[in-house]
Amino acid sequence: MTTPENEGRKDTPDTMVGTVPGDGPVLPDAKRNPSIATRERRDTAYTPSGETPYLVVQDLTVQFPTADGLVSAVNGLSYAVPLGRTLAIVGESGSGKSVSSMAVMGLHDRKRTKISGSIQLGGDEIVGMPENELMKVRGDAVAMVFQDPQSSLHPLYTVGNQISEAYRVHHKVSKDVAKKRALEMLDLVGIPNPIRRFKQYPHEFSGGMRQRAMIAMGLVNDPKLVIADEPTTALDVTVQAQILDLLNNLQKEFGSAIVLITHDLGVVAEMADDVLVMYAGRCVEYGTAEDVLARPRMPYTWGLLESIPTVSAASEKLRPIKGLPPSLLSLPGGCSFNPRCPYTDRVKGERCTTDLPELLPVDGAGAHTSRCHLHDKASIYEAEVAPRLG
Ligand SMILES: Nc1ncnc2c1ncn2[C@@H]1O[C@H](COP(=O)(O)OP(=O)(O)OP(=O)(O)O)[C@@H](O)[C@H]1O
Ligand code: SF4
Ligand SMILES: [Mg+2]
Repeated sequence: MTTPENEGRKDTPDTMVGTVPGDGPVLPDAKRNPSIATRERRDTAYTPSGETPYLVVQDLTVQFPTADGLVSAVNGLSYAVPLGRTLAIVGESGSGKSVSSMAVMGLHDRKRTKISGSIQLGGDEIVGMPENELMKVRGDAVAMVFQDPQSSLHPLYTVGNQISEAYRVHHKVSKDVAKKRALEMLDLVGIPNPIRRFKQYPHEFSGGMRQRAMIAMGLVNDPKLVIADEPTTALDVTVQAQILDLLNNLQKEFGSAIVLITHDLGVVAEMADDVLVMYAGRCVEYGTAEDVLARPRMPYTWGLLESIPTVSAASEKLRPIKGLPPSLLSLPGGCSFNPRCPYTDRVKGERCTTDLPELLPVDGAGAHTSRCHLHDKASIYEAEVAPRLG
């Protein structure tokens, strides 16, 4: 598709290589989303671990028509998450993390958003699903935990009331049964004295308690997928650790798939099974957490890793990525990262500024993929980047 942003650029859809053992490749249901059938596709449902996915996002593009032009907030994004596994989506502000996840929840205003590609949840296609069906999916199969629980909890209803109503929306039960369930959830997320807390309003809870209450509300219907968008950013470090532990434990209890959106690579290392790095609306690196964190193969990921404090690297050694992410209305030609990339002179000719790199397996095969023209990514990383990371 030609837009004001990509005009004149060689643009290729993400190429996700890999299959799901046992079931074979899970292809999108072309009947539900005919636009998929007409495109030549090489991508298949794919998880770095090879497990059968519950959530399958394929070639997702989300665009907002604005007075200044078409904003392509997400471009050709593909990933998949099995039950019981956590995918972390990382990237700087504005890279499309929230917009892509809101598409999974079907939360975009249909009139103001152009969405293409496929999002399958347990085999059901979300893209184009009627609103009444989507409402059933939200809160039932999928729950979202936001950064700011204040914006999701209604200030005029008690916390207990909101959790029990969230349960009653999806279950035909009496108020008493729903209350019992809400009390169980408050207890499960570690809120002391649930009976007293049930009757309180959100402003009577501390920030950490509100976040727990929101998690209780999100999980009250045993969702198979939890999307946690910066769930701990507003909290102090101790409470952050408690909330992350809680998510981890709940995942063990419910066996849910988790998509965790975060800026914090420390949180990624702690929580994620798989990692997807986004830059300017595209996936630039994807693989298991071990591959992406210990053997990253993309200069942007190197930049992210070099710009965070670690136990071994003193803060004076930190090297922030120079410059700012590009405007989505006027992306640079070729690789979107090229104006900020210190390695462009290692690529022959002008490819970094003329050709958009495809997302390809880093070793010519396998589940770890990255989007970069460099030929010798592994040796550059080992010789130059890894020593700086300490
Ligand atoms: N409704 C909208 N209309 C136009 N542009 C939008 C709209 N919603 C989001 N965007 C743009 O889409 C881009 C991606 O936004 P998104 O919220 O996904 O970023 P993010 O990666 O979640 O960033 P952060 O880490 O700051 O939360 C941003 O440039 C944002 O300005
Ligand atoms: S393709 Fe070029 S600009 Fe992009 S990350 Fe690789 S070396 Fe840097
Ligand atoms: Mg966001």
